[in-house]
Amino acid sequence: MTLSRHDLFDDVAVRLDGVSLRYDTSEDILSGIDLVLKPGSFSFLTGASGAGKTSLLKLLYLALKPSRGEVSLFGRPTSRLTRDQLSALRRRVGVVFQEFRLLDHLTAYENVALPLRVLGRKESTYRSDVEELLAWVGLGERMHARPTTLSGGEQQRVAIARAVVTQPDILIADEPTGNVDPEMGSRLMRLFLELNKRRATTVIIATHDLGLVRQVEAPVFRLQHGLLVQDVEYGPAARRRTDISKAVE
Ligand SMILES: Nc1ncnc2c1ncn2[C@@H]1O[C@H](COP(=O)(O)OP(=O)(O)O)[C@@H](O)[C@H]1O
Ligand SMILES: [Mg+2]
Repeated sequence: MTLSRHDLFDDVAVRLDGVSLRYDTSEDILSGIDLVLKPGSFSFLTGASGAGKTSLLKLLYLALKPSRGEVSLFGRPTSRLTRDQLSALRRRVGVVFQEFRLLDHLTAYENVALPLRVLGRKESTYRSDVEELLAWVGLGERMHARPTTLSGGEQQRVAIARAVVTQPDILIADEPTGNVDPEMGSRLMRLFLELNKRRATTVIIATHDLGLVRQVEAPVFRLQHGLLVQDVEYGPAARRRTDISKAVE
């Protein structure tokens, strides 16, 4: 069985049903988590350091298997898939990490092109797309620079371009603004929002930066004591509610 973009139940991008996770013999890090992300949605995952954000994201990009429960992508439960079927699903998911994870011996352009090379694509078929993508993230002039000569914000923009060059349906970012200044953080956030709008990419961003969360009107899921709660206190709407309640007082 091969998976194509159209033979799946695409009404749900991500679904977790009763998902628990424990490492080795420790207690549950995540406990009975239910979560649904609709295609084209944009959401945040928050929680204190050690709350399990990275672990939850690893379950979403299929780098970890839950101890209990089921992770489904695009309506397809993943627990019984073969390795090839899992690879096919993973190709529809792009990931951005806090620490960029770029290859230092390659240029920015080569880093972004790498996922396409791995897929066996010929450079002549993607060169202009990659150049366009680098220009879009504001690195048109720096595309032949090596990562070590770029600033943190520039490196993270290369990493974002690399994550989306294969046009994934889901984009997962783990503390993507952790190593850049607040202004660059806002700029990166605008890139994520634009990606979400442009291709209806499902975006989930883990961050403990509540200042960033408040800039965007989006659902906020918060991990606490292994449980996931949907937070309604953040975002511009929440701020307006607060303002109104203050006005009434
Ligand atoms: N590979 C691992 N083996 C054992 N424990 C781990 C592993 N990865 C993370 N943990 C533990 O799981 C908990 C959640 O970690 P993590 O998912 O990284 O949280 P966050 O990203 O919110 O900081 C922490 O207590 C951490 O020490
Ligand atoms: Mg983390």
